[in-house]
Order: sequence, then structure tokens, then C-alpha cells
Amino acid sequence: MDYRRTTIKDILAKTPGERVEAYGWVKTKRDSKGVSFVQLNDGSCFTDLQVVIEAGTLPDEDLKRVSTGACVMFAGELVESPAAGQAVELRGETITIYGEADPASYPLQKKGASFEFLREIAHLRVRGNTFGAVMRVRNRASYAVHRFFQERGFNWIHTPIITASDCEGAGAMFAVSTLLEAEPTPEGTQFRLKDTDPANDFFGKPAYLTVSGQLNVETHALGLTNVYTFGPTFRAENSNTPRHLAEFWMIEPEMAFCDIEGDMNLAEEFVREVIGDVLDHCGPDLDFFNKRIEPELLQTLEHVVNSGFERLTYTEAIKLLEASGENFEFPCDWGSDLQSEHERWLTEKKIGRPVIVTDYPKEIKAFYMYGNDDGQTVRAMDVLVPRIGELIGGSQREDRLDVLESRIVELGLPLEAYWWYLDLRRFGSAPHSGFGLGFERLVMYLTGMKNIRDVIPFHRTPGQADF
Ligand code: 4AD
Ligand code: MG
Repeated sequence: MDYRRTTIKDILAKTPGERVEAYGWVKTKRDSKGVSFVQLNDGSCFTDLQVVIEAGTLPDEDLKRVSTGACVMFAGELVESPAAGQAVELRGETITIYGEADPASYPLQKKGASFEFLREIAHLRVRGNTFGAVMRVRNRASYAVHRFFQERGFNWIHTPIITASDCEGAGAMFAVSTLLEAEPTPEGTQFRLKDTDPANDFFGKPAYLTVSGQLNVETHALGLTNVYTFGPTFRAENSNTPRHLAEFWMIEPEMAFCDIEGDMNLAEEFVREVIGDVLDHCGPDLDFFNKRIEPELLQTLEHVVNSGFERLTYTEAIKLLEASGENFEFPCDWGSDLQSEHERWLTEKKIGRPVIVTDYPKEIKAFYMYGNDDGQTVRAMDVLVPRIGELIGGSQREDRLDVLESRIVELGLPLEAYWWYLDLRRFGSAPHSGFGLGFERLVMYLTGMKNIRDVIPFHRTPGQADF
């Protein structure tokens, strides 16, 4: 056996008359007069291969073992299919059964099982239509991300996952420590704190899982010019929403000699190109999402590829929100952060397409953003898209040493901890900008899936780290 084997995707593209071997998992089996029909799928494409088995061809005891979830290989002749929607089908002549799936206990039986239920069997759900399609789209989008940057000469930088600095200054980080020892007891695992002094910990100081690779990747932009990261990030906020994960993947480009305008241009070009690539390569999967999950998906995605993003300042956005006449749950006066409901009203109801909001009040943004001359706002930019809200957060970075230092002090952050970050401003400082795109939010946007838990193989959220 070898991975270089004909997949069901290959088989469906062949002409009738060829003999093939089709490996996969049984989606359904249906028996009618003198003939059985098996829908077989191996995840190589959305469409199943129909296998037709005439009575008497295969031993009855073999055919009985073929049920939903079973893993099998059918060999036989590919013939023209009389059924609508498929050019060919396989006439099953021999069968190899690798693994049965007892119908009495196989959990993935019912069509139309809820997504909530499928999360409980996340180890099996990828065999179904929806999650197979999600994972293929996720894969293609990852490839498109790398392709986009590689074609433009950006270097992929592998920033560390364990870090001693809190990039966003938000204080919602997972500690990484060996001071906490796990002790198995008859009642289950218990934790024991060996020591409380970070100086005695593994790294000799407090360490965390990264919330963003930005500070690290800025160092490489100021040497390699155009760089990006694409990796997992972690946030310990206790936010149980359809848009937040405790572990998610983020893409963070960073560019020297680039201001906020250039940053917005890149964000827009990037999102439009990745969507275009997925539209070009995941047709059958997107057709499924359009039919079953989000009725206007294709229309929206094509519209985004073909039209520019709206741009407005935070101050303009607040004016629009105040004049909206909507009854928002949270206030939206100048100085308060835009909540998800505000973001969605702007992009969905008011503008009707992606919108970039810039120049936020400095109090609601991170310490590293470039201060505008008004002394009130910073060169931040958030990309908001319909159905999702915030897809991207980015900014031009503060590259003036004195301004950055006083901002760190003003916010009560430890100046010493940022010595290397400040060195970038001390030696050969340059205007530079970047942003972070939450990859799962992009996959939600591409598929129309409503819950971020359903676009990652195994989600990590408060109270959930199974599998
Ligand atoms: O806006 P954020 O917090 O920005 C940063 O981390 C910057 N350091 C990025 C940069 O400038 N290099 O996060 C960026 C994006 C958000 O716009 C959102 O799409 C996503 O990351 N995101 C999350 N996605 C899933 N679950 C969460 N808990 C997320 N928090 C942020
Ligand atoms: Mg943000």
C-alpha cells in the first residue's frame, strides 16, 4: 500500500471502461431490488463515488458488514452513470473490508445531526459532508496565505510560542510553568505548587503562551523588511462567544518602510486574494456551504473580491452609530471601544461590505501604536466584515523612542522588560506597520459557518480541551 493511489477525486475524473480500486468510508448503503448502492468517500473531494453492487456479485455475509462508517475498498469497472449529477459510477466486483462500524453504536449515523452534537464526536465528524468541506477550505486558505506572501517576497518567521512578554498588555495569558506539579491521586489528578517564586521556575522568570507574535516579528521586519508569521496564539479570556477561541491561528505580516495606508492596502489585497484563490479551488465545497449553510455566501465572496473596502475613521464611525437610531446593548460614545454589535451594524447594515476603521482613541488600543498629532488617537486599523465583525486588527507602530517610552511608562508597564523592543527604536528605527488576521474568523467568513468551534479540528474554549 502506498499513498500514491487513485483517490475518489481522481476516479470521478476518469472515463467509463477503466478498472479502478476505490478506498474510502461508507457514507450510506441502500438496498433495492437485486442491487445495493453504496456512497463512498475518502475526503479527497466533496462528491461521493457511487458503487453499484448487483445481487450475487459479492458474498452476502460481506455485504452485510458494509454499513455507514465502515472502511472498505471496492474494485471493479467504472461505468457511465444513469443517475443525475454524476458522470460515472463503480460497478463493485470485489470488496476488501478494513474496518466495520457497528450500526448499533457508530455515532455518526444520522443525517442532520446538530453541530453541537458533532462537537462531542470531533474525532469522527470530519467524515461527514460539512466538516470534510470545512477542512478542505481551511487547507486551501492556508496554502493561499503562504502563496500570497511568498509571491511578494515576504519571509515567513517562526516566532516563539513561549514568551516572557505580554504583547497586547491585556493580561489574559496562560502561564507556562513547571512549578505546578501534576500528581495523580485515586480521586484524579491534583496540582501541587512546588514554589511560588518565578525566579525558581523553568525559565527563571514568568513565562506565558504567546497572545501574538508581533513584538518578535517586528525585530525581523527591521532587517528583512517584509515578513509574516502564521501560527497558533493563545488567549485566556473567559469569553464564551461564537467568535473566540482560547487557541487560534493568527497571520501577522509586518513591513518596514510602510505606513498605515500601506498597511490597509496590504490587508485589503490579502483578504481579496485569499478569497479569490479559495473560490477558484474549492468550488464544490463552497457550493455546498452556499446551499446548506449560508444562502448568500458565494454572492458575498465574489462581491468582496470585486469591490474595494470602505475606509472611515473611528470618529466618523461613532457619528454614524450615534445617528443610527439603533437600540444597542452597549453605549457607543466617543472613547468607548466598538462592541461586536456596533461593528456588525457598520459593516452589515450601514456599509454592506468590508470596512476599515482607523484612528482609534489611544486609551482603547495597545501601547505600541503610532500616536497621531492630535494627541488623542493612534494609527490603528481594524478590518470589519459582515457576519463576523473584526477580522483584522493592525496598526502603524510607534517608531519614535521617546514617545514609545513615555507611553509604556504612562500605562504602568515595566520599561526594562521591553529593552530589546526599544532597541529597535534606538538603533536604525524605521516607519513600520503590520496587522493580525484571525485565521478561524477568515474560515468562518469563507464557509458561512456560524460558530468558530466548527472551523478548527479540535476547539479549545473555556471548559473544553477534549481530544
Ligand atoms: O486585534 P488583535 O488582538 O491584534 C493583535 O494581536 C496584534 N498584535 C496584531 C498585529 O498587529 N500584528 O488580534 C488580531 C486578530 C483579530 O482581529 C481577530 O480576528 C483574531 O485575531 N482574534 C481571535 N480569533 C479567535 N479567537 C480569539 N480569542 C481571538 N482574539 C483575536
Ligand atoms: Mg483587535
